[in-house]
Amino acid sequence: MSTASFDLLPSTNPAADAVRDNILAAPGFGQHFTDHMAHVRWTLDAGWHGHEVRPYGPLTLDPAAAVLHYAQEIFEGIKAYRHADGSVWTFRPEKNAERFRRSARRLALPELSDEDFIGSIKALLAQDHAWVPTPQSAADECSLYLRPFMIASEKFLGVRPAREVDYYVIASPAAAYFKGGIEPVSIWLSQHYKRAAPGGTGFAKCGGNYAASLAAQKEASDNGCGQVAFLDAAENKWIEELGGMNLFFVYKDGRIATPRLTDTILEGVTRDSVLTLAKDEGLTPEERPISIDEWREGAASGEITEIFACGTAAVITPVGELVTEEGPIRLAAKSDNEVAKRLRTKLLDLQYGRSEDKYGWLTRL
Ligand code: COI
Repeated sequence: MSTASFDLLPSTNPAADAVRDNILAAPGFGQHFTDHMAHVRWTLDAGWHGHEVRPYGPLTLDPAAAVLHYAQEIFEGIKAYRHADGSVWTFRPEKNAERFRRSARRLALPELSDEDFIGSIKALLAQDHAWVPTPQSAADECSLYLRPFMIASEKFLGVRPAREVDYYVIASPAAAYFKGGIEPVSIWLSQHYKRAAPGGTGFAKCGGNYAASLAAQKEASDNGCGQVAFLDAAENKWIEELGGMNLFFVYKDGRIATPRLTDTILEGVTRDSVLTLAKDEGLTPEERPISIDEWREGAASGEITEIFACGTAAVITPVGELVTEEGPIRLAAKSDNEVAKRLRTKLLDLQYGRSEDKYGWLTRL
């Protein structure tokens, strides 16, 4: 793959070293942004053009821009990790690039090549590499969270695919997604709201899916939960995913199961990596339908010994309980989440260059 060439318009007002260091010491999640952003424009006539890295700042959008009315938008989540020797790497970016193209097709947006997707991240990091935090221990999951996104910017109120589109990458230093770090998170079961329906956009990473999850996410937080679990729209029976991450169930006989991919489930890069790493750990991965009854009964009987959420932002986070309108579903025996912790360590060691990259999952930035 050749590298796309990006023009540079340097920031005239970058954060001072002391300000940046202060942010990197406790970045939280999604609150602070680096000095620059990458941008590429697309028009029906000219295709992708105008590759640039420019100062981070507000966008100028016409009030009639299609994205503001019809939500023609897609995004990605991917991280940059600093290794002990100071080098900066990202993880399986071609998987995100491929998913971004899948999302683009579903939202009738133009497809972006691997070259432009990975090239835009490299071009941004060439300027903002100092914003990648240095982990303080093997348990520290600090990183630079990258958010590529594409919007329909054409000024037009008719409903049809936009003929003018803009793609950006912004970057935000990040600590753990959940405030409690790897403390087990409580999940709320959404019994009324659905995230996605067959034939819809559930498999695409588009803003609309997340907008549709917010009322349920509010219910979750009103009930003291950090995330919401969705059941399928057709039968209200099959576990799909959480508001922003996939789910895994660990069984006492060594099986580890996650809902099989359908067009209502987002194919997580972390989910796919966990399936591979689990096999390396001697576990038996399964991708299959998992019902809410299996969750209830497996938890009560002790067949299910651990449950965890996974995603780029969440990494691997144990699930403590599922809170439902009828009361909580908890595991029969208190779990030490040994499998989740083991897989999490394996994944982080790989991402931070502390173990051999035997699958060639790392790309240097
Ligand atoms: C990610 O994991 O990258 C996501 O986009 C999910 C969101 C909850 C931050």
